[in-house]
Amino acid sequence: MCNTVAQHSYVSNHGTQRQDEVLTKPLNILMLSVHGLVRGQELELGRDADTGGQVKYVVELARALGEQPEVEQVNLITRLIDDASVPESYHQPEESLSACARIIRLPFAPRRYLRKEVLWPHLDQLVDRCLAWLRTQPRLPDVIHSHYADAGYVGEQLSLLLGIPLIHTAHSLGREKRSRLIVAGRKSATIDKQFNFERRIAVEESVLDHASLIVASTRQEITAQYATYASFDARRAVVLPPGIDLARFSPPPWWAAFDAVTTQQLFNRFLQSPKKPVVLALSRPDTRKNIGTLIAAYAESETLRELSNLVIIAGTREDIRDADEDAQQFFTDLLLDIDRYDLYGKVAIPKHHSTDQVPDIYRYAARSRGVLVNPSLNENFGLTLIEAAATGLPVIATSQGGPQEIIANLRHGTLVDPLDKSALIEALIEALTNREKWRRWSRSGILGVAKHYTWVAHAQKYIRTVDRLLHKQKKQMRRPLSQWPTHVNTPSEQRNVLARARRMLITDLDNTLVGDEAALRDLLAWLQEHSSEVAFGIATGRTLDSALKLLKEYRIPMPHVLVTSVGAEIHYGMRLVTDTSWQSHVKHLWRRDDLSTALAIAPGLKLQPASHQSPYKLSYFVDNTNTLAVSALQAQLHTSGLKANLVASHGEFLDVLPVRASKGRAIRYLAYKWGFQLNDLLVSGDSGNDIDMLAGDTLGVVVGGHSDELKSLSGDEHVFFAEAPFARGILQGIAHYQFAANIKLVN
Ligand code: GLC
Ligand code: MG
Repeated sequence: MCNTVAQHSYVSNHGTQRQDEVLTKPLNILMLSVHGLVRGQELELGRDADTGGQVKYVVELARALGEQPEVEQVNLITRLIDDASVPESYHQPEESLSACARIIRLPFAPRRYLRKEVLWPHLDQLVDRCLAWLRTQPRLPDVIHSHYADAGYVGEQLSLLLGIPLIHTAHSLGREKRSRLIVAGRKSATIDKQFNFERRIAVEESVLDHASLIVASTRQEITAQYATYASFDARRAVVLPPGIDLARFSPPPWWAAFDAVTTQQLFNRFLQSPKKPVVLALSRPDTRKNIGTLIAAYAESETLRELSNLVIIAGTREDIRDADEDAQQFFTDLLLDIDRYDLYGKVAIPKHHSTDQVPDIYRYAARSRGVLVNPSLNENFGLTLIEAAATGLPVIATSQGGPQEIIANLRHGTLVDPLDKSALIEALIEALTNREKWRRWSRSGILGVAKHYTWVAHAQKYIRTVDRLLHKQKKQMRRPLSQWPTHVNTPSEQRNVLARARRMLITDLDNTLVGDEAALRDLLAWLQEHSSEVAFGIATGRTLDSALKLLKEYRIPMPHVLVTSVGAEIHYGMRLVTDTSWQSHVKHLWRRDDLSTALAIAPGLKLQPASHQSPYKLSYFVDNTNTLAVSALQAQLHTSGLKANLVASHGEFLDVLPVRASKGRAIRYLAYKWGFQLNDLLVSGDSGNDIDMLAGDTLGVVVGGHSDELKSLSGDEHVFFAEAPFARGILQGIAHYQFAANIKLVN
């Protein structure tokens, strides 16, 4: 960890020293970016669909933040990949990015490289690996920042568990992508299967609901994309455009002849008069980039053809017939258009160029007094406009999307309607002939980029925003968590048992522990026999009173830990000491009375008897949990400004809980507090409220006769489906995991 000694009290943007606590404590940031090939050097951008702009963004952001004095540490967590088909560097557990930033790679899921769509079922494992890793660290992060929906899921779980605020950047959104594919003629059933849209969009709704801050690159991303999500709240969003590397993208040196021989060679063989100003288009080979309109404009205007050469850089290509469908269409149109308008000698379309050559290509165009054209039908952000600005190249750009905001900041060119060919011609001629304007645009771009679009500027704004957020949150929360409690503050009776035990068996009550009297006795005997090494825990949906009643009825000895009300409460030992740290953690955002009023009118819900209600649990009967639209209920709560965790069980129960409460979270809290690894916990259950304690790294046992809600766990490598129901099933689980044999005896 770096910057722990140097305590930075930092200066606000007004130059005044601020005295508060948050400001003087260096920031510790946990970043999550799960998919693709992530490393610090020689990014393999474009190697596959998962290794692109997001990877570059995340690595550059982490690096830049790690160079700011206000930041103590940035840990960028990604997946550790063990696969001979990708370089060894993705198998390194740790890689430094800058003074106080590093990549941490945690293994989860099968070792080989996997595309992002198939990582979903393994994300609970990553949550647990993060938790285990965090416990080895000197302190917990101040914020968690997740990138894309997969990391968003992991970030949300960690945030709920640890009470650390979540920042989220979507990078792209499922709903937008899905509708784009449908417009392109793809069938919804096939794409839903291929891209896992249902899961992705549900997770996105939940993450946008939970996150304290959403980072967008442009305002239009907020209004056109995020706003299609019911749970999105624009007041929690901030626009922070990405930065670029000014060391790479600099203007051509004016004092010396520009030496870019190799770049020049890219074009010379295409062009009759290579000295003319260059109209440059630079993009992926994608038909939505609307290069056809540019070619038509150029071809139809004699003045333009006289004034300039057209240079089109659209990725690199080998045999067009091997490219993917859209790229094939793009190149075919391109070649046919050049032929149709007979533009030989006037248009350059180099087959290859290297990433290193890109800055020189801009410089070459700038030196020729040319212009960058981005005629895209819709541009999400428009990074090329910024790269052009940095090299002193003016731009003509689409009025649709991000470029509006970029040009408003940089004033280095003009916007055109991408479908208006004559407007495009006019704008191009103006840029190429009005010398005075060209110089003004060129200068304005160079100066503006240094002000608006560097990673340092981004990082500084980021730090100020996060600082405000932490400040606000500190006021709201009674107990800011810089560290989760460990067991030293707990009464000695439980400390002895739980600190000594190396393993714990935690089971659900109804339909799991009880149901088969003989099996129950066998299991209790097993627990007795192993009582010096294995602690005994119960996690139930019942209230404390109702659970105690059942224990008495079945003569079950008092467990070491009794988790009640679906994880909302934790009690220890014979004296049922309440874990007050958990209690204050869980009650965050809980408004029981308002929830009860809001749900009183919800169709199909009937309140359970008073003996099943508790201060942190509202329980209902429902007609059928399979037809219950939990997402519609969530949306209804959202519009009333209420937050809750809704859990359906046994086909007929619905529990409404504080957002941070669940059985899974309660037992992860216990593991963290008492120093158990998650695979030291054997966990058994039979219905919906058990799901999140069975998933992830715990040794899960689903007993026979379980309800349908647990089907989603089948195939999970850490979940064993026992044949026998009730306690007999638990005993089968103990045998399956060799839980007894593997116990490491404490000396
Ligand atoms: C237990 C509780 C009930 C709850 C159900 C599901 O049966 O008594 O209130 O709804 O578990 O968690
Ligand atoms: Mg049960």
